Amino acid sequence: MRKKNIAILGSTGSIGCSTLEVIRHLADRFHVSYLTAHRNIDLLTEQIARFKPHGVVVLEERNAAALRERIGTATEILSGVDGILEIVTRADVDLVLSSLVGFAGLAPTLAAIRAGKDIALANKETLVVGGEIIMKTVQESGVRLTPVDSEHSAILQCLQGEDPKSIGRLILTASGGPFLHLDRKHFGTITRAQALNHPTWRMGNKITIDSATLMNKGLEVIEAFWLFGIPHEQIEVVIHPQSIIHSMVEFVDGSIKAQLGVPDMKIPIQYALTYPDRPAAPYRRVDFGALREMTFFPPDLEKFRCLALAYRALKRGGTAPAVLNAANERAVELFLDERIPFSTIPSLIQEALEAHTPAPVVTMDDLVRADREARDFITRHASAAVSY
Ligand SMILES: NC(=O)c1ccc[n+]([C@@H]2O[C@H](COP(=O)([O-])OP(=O)(O)OC[C@H]3O[C@@H](n4cnc5c(N)ncnc54)[C@H](OP(=O)(O)O)[C@@H]3O)[C@@H](O)[C@H]2O)c1
Repeated sequence: MRKKNIAILGSTGSIGCSTLEVIRHLADRFHVSYLTAHRNIDLLTEQIARFKPHGVVVLEERNAAALRERIGTATEILSGVDGILEIVTRADVDLVLSSLVGFAGLAPTLAAIRAGKDIALANKETLVVGGEIIMKTVQESGVRLTPVDSEHSAILQCLQGEDPKSIGRLILTASGGPFLHLDRKHFGTITRAQALNHPTWRMGNKITIDSATLMNKGLEVIEAFWLFGIPHEQIEVVIHPQSIIHSMVEFVDGSIKAQLGVPDMKIPIQYALTYPDRPAAPYRRVDFGALREMTFFPPDLEKFRCLALAYRALKRGGTAPAVLNAANERAVELFLDERIPFSTIPSLIQEALEAHTPAPVVTMDDLVRADREARDFITRHASAAVSY
């Protein structure tokens, strides 16, 4: 079997590092041709020494210059968004693992699809913002796009061998995050450190806050809508704090298929990279004796309003999900900078959505404009925001 050349966008992040671990044990199948990072050039230097890529990209030129000083010219070093857009189209790339965080992932993923590259997609914001354009371009280019998110990987696995017309509902599971049992009246005093302390998953900061607000589940509902072409009325969320069932599909005859496993992103990452193959993997297994119970209950949409807001944006359509995403990214940034309280995140997003009249998405420019306007809106309204 010829080795596949893989470009990993965001190799220094949580998903990027897990992907490199997966590739280390699948070295007979993959060769790392490119890596990209924002500013963590220490870790990138280690990754270059270990995986010997053809090239790397860092966002800022001064970091690229510092990296050149360190490692010389044996590895090509590019910089900027243009550098990322260039490497994803090169001939020595078969597959792109898209694991940048946020809206920044959209343009490189679209460029890779247009260049005919297969995609393993972790960057859910790509589909939340640009689902219509992305799925249309995937069809036109004839590439394969496989989800990395554990929930969507679970659904993809449940759907193997099934007729899409027999799907009754998709049931996305959610751990519920660290504030599942905290009374809503305390949400205003939640600290950055408390919100970053997720009970079952270790992830990057932005998705960890999204998991605490349940916006992550809202983004995943929109992601599922585009990936599987299922109406929003047939996509449900259930809280399952043990994170063992990663999602389920109910079929029209009432049968339900679920995919289970330990909460370890290396498992869905490997599935996305090797799909439809399922090679052996050395990761931890579920110990049912130690697990003892699996519990389920419906999400509290009054307490976790971000989830309700995501459904609302999906129903409104057009540019509304782009506004939801941008408002959320900016509000999360402000919370992480300790400039707004946790409870203000949904209030600001709601205001941004209410102030926006959704327009049809025809080109990328429509998305870029909606994104910029929503970020500006949040920045302007942050200091005056009321939490309700
Ligand atoms: N982590 C998980 O378990 C998980 C699970 C499912 C889905 N996802 C999704 O996967 C994506 C990545 O999540 P993560 O947790 O891996 O994030 P992360 O740990 O924050 O990593 C983000 C990566 O992107 C780079 N980066 C950040 N901003 C950038 C920008 N503006 N331009 C270019 N590169 C940039 C970072 O570089 P530096 O390190 O140099 O800053 C890092 O390599 C997100 O969309 C998330 O929702 C994550």
